[in-house]
Amino acid sequence: MKALGFTTYGVPEVFEELELPKPTLGEKDVLIKAQAIGINPYDALLRAGTMQKIRPLEFPIVPGSDVVGEIVEVGSKVKHYAIGDIVIAHPSIGGYGEYVAISSAKIVKKPEEMSLEEAAGLASVGTTAYFAVKLAKLKKNETLIIQGASGAVGSIAVQIAKEAGIHVIGIAHSRNRDYVSALGADEVVAYDEENLANRLADKADVVLDASFGGKGAAEGLQFVKKGGRYISLTSLPDNAEEKKVKAMRMTRTKDMKDKEALGYLADLYRSHKLRLKTAETLTFDLRGVIGAHQLIDKKKVAGKLVLK
Ligand SMILES: NC(=O)c1ccc[n+]([C@@H]2O[C@H](COP(=O)([O-])OP(=O)(O)OC[C@H]3O[C@@H](n4cnc5c(N)ncnc54)[C@H](OP(=O)(O)O)[C@@H]3O)[C@@H](O)[C@H]2O)c1
Repeated sequence: MKALGFTTYGVPEVFEELELPKPTLGEKDVLIKAQAIGINPYDALLRAGTMQKIRPLEFPIVPGSDVVGEIVEVGSKVKHYAIGDIVIAHPSIGGYGEYVAISSAKIVKKPEEMSLEEAAGLASVGTTAYFAVKLAKLKKNETLIIQGASGAVGSIAVQIAKEAGIHVIGIAHSRNRDYVSALGADEVVAYDEENLANRLADKADVVLDASFGGKGAAEGLQFVKKGGRYISLTSLPDNAEEKKVKAMRMTRTKDMKDKEALGYLADLYRSHKLRLKTAETLTFDLRGVIGAHQLIDKKKVAGKLVLK
């Protein structure tokens, strides 16, 4: 099968078109023929070699954790899915290929009205946002400040938190103010226009740092009330101990089941309470993947990059 991967780390142009064996199925797996795939910042870190110590992998490396496609084969113990179903899948790697074999516990049927682009961008960021909000353990009317509220994870976290009756303050660049507001945030604060420390000091029961690479980390701690919590998707700020808040790095644990999160997100979408934004769709080929990685390295557009 055709796959897009690399045999050396580096710039987006290290991608090459590879010919690899079609994946084989376990008895609880399904084989999916990809129709669209989503690109994540993590894929760019893999490509650049930033993750090689934390996650050593053998070349060729085919990144990709977000796939939507048609089931073309099912394992003997798979229930609830059949050949022909269009599903959203969340593989840990290998998504930039023509086919992916994956456990049926890591897929969900695509809601009919959801486009392939929306579906391709959902699984990684949606499951991350779902478990980050869950980890926050907020009660109704408590305040959640989301740094990077315009981002792929942040924008979904805004909507999940609003659905749970939480007061949401989103931090984003001023160009994304209307977008974050339209997602339902009660307040939007533009980090390029306002003095965040003045406006937000001690306001949050929980701060979720979903900014790219933890860019908001240094100031985010100041927004947490005494006794509050700080959750980062990347790394914890150095001064976390100085302020008496519980600082946590959001890492996926075994009890965070994809099935639970994906099922919730599909239902939220069906009830018209989940808006998903595609930044750009590029072609599912070498040119497309290089272009998508060039864009993700520049970090300018809100929304997901998709190959189709
Ligand atoms: N994708 C995943 O599933 C996943 C899973 C775990 C962890 N992560 C990590 O979480 C982070 C966010 O991922 P993502 O996919 O949501 O990325 P993304 O779509 O690029 O969003 C990141 C957001 O960060 C915001 N930002 C940039 N500089 C900022 C600053 N100085 N202050 C506040 N916000 C700032 C940007 O907002 P503006 O455009 O409005 O400036 C952007 O919307 C990444 O570091 C990623 O590696 C992602």
